[in-house]
Amino acid sequence: MPALSKPLILKWFNAFMRLSHRACSLSARHADEVYVPLQGGLDKCRAGQVYLVGAGSGDVELLTLKAARLLMQADAVVYDRLVGDDVLALIPKGSERYYVGKSRGHHSVPQNEIGALMVKLVGEGKSVVRLKGGDPAFFARMGEELDALAAAQVPAAIVPGITAASAAAACMGIPLTDRGHAQQLRFITAQLCREDGTPDWAALARKDETLVFYMGLSKVEVICHGLRQAGLPDAWPIMLVANASKPEQQSLVGSLADMPEKLAALPLPSPCLIVVGSVVQRVSVSPASAENQARYVGEV
Ligand SMILES: C[S@@+](CC[C@H](N)C(=O)[O-])C[C@H]1O[C@@H](n2cnc3c(N)ncnc32)[C@H](O)[C@@H]1O
Repeated sequence: MPALSKPLILKWFNAFMRLSHRACSLSARHADEVYVPLQGGLDKCRAGQVYLVGAGSGDVELLTLKAARLLMQADAVVYDRLVGDDVLALIPKGSERYYVGKSRGHHSVPQNEIGALMVKLVGEGKSVVRLKGGDPAFFARMGEELDALAAAQVPAAIVPGITAASAAAACMGIPLTDRGHAQQLRFITAQLCREDGTPDWAALARKDETLVFYMGLSKVEVICHGLRQAGLPDAWPIMLVANASKPEQQSLVGSLADMPEKLAALPLPSPCLIVVGSVVQRVSVSPASAENQARYVGEV
């Protein structure tokens, strides 16, 4: 979608909100009308404030209505690598945009510079959206950014987004906490996964739990080995989902014993999420799994 002018996008957005209010008022008479609970355009993106906004996992339709409104209204948008082009296309032409993610072979903009940039923009009287992939509070350094804003006495608001774990589970057609499989769910950064004892593999190797590893594509072998050594069976289910919710989504389903080999034979791209737990068994029979769609609509 090409970039559109700010007045045009705002005009469309307001028209959309008027229509949804109409649908809302008609809903008592027509039960099948769509009810969209919007703020009617009364809420504004405030100058002098930073909004830490989740862009969702990639599919633009997984963006919240609030995030879409703020993107259309903000004076400046500071965004990361995992934010999709379709989401960025919602930013009007006249708004300022700053990319602070990692570029190929380079490091990201240092955290203190991102904080300083937001404080500077707010000091110029602008409303600022800090846009992050997924949910801004999941492994996204939101704490450091809140600290930088607090130190400069800049008010902030948080708008949650669909995190990669929710998107990956939905696309693979499984509930992460199906009660027959998991009574606990853990979100883990794989960045510290090493063979020499970190994380505490014994604490993670439970059969009543689903484990979700972020940032773990290069650690699959270490994770499978660590969990097997700590007592999970060789056949324990694991799945890898790359580019969850995007058209280019890819996945691998296997066991702790065979996943490193499967991945070597079919390398997946980044970003990729790892899910470990018996709930992964449900993928093969789920009518909502991307893998089974073709079978259920009779194409195979
Ligand atoms: C720095 S973390 C950011 C997580 C993000 N804040 C969220 O809530 O999804 C980046 C990691 O998230 C995961 N990730 C993000 N988007 C993904 C997607 N669309 N598909 C699969 N994994 C994704 C990957 O594990 C990636 O290495």
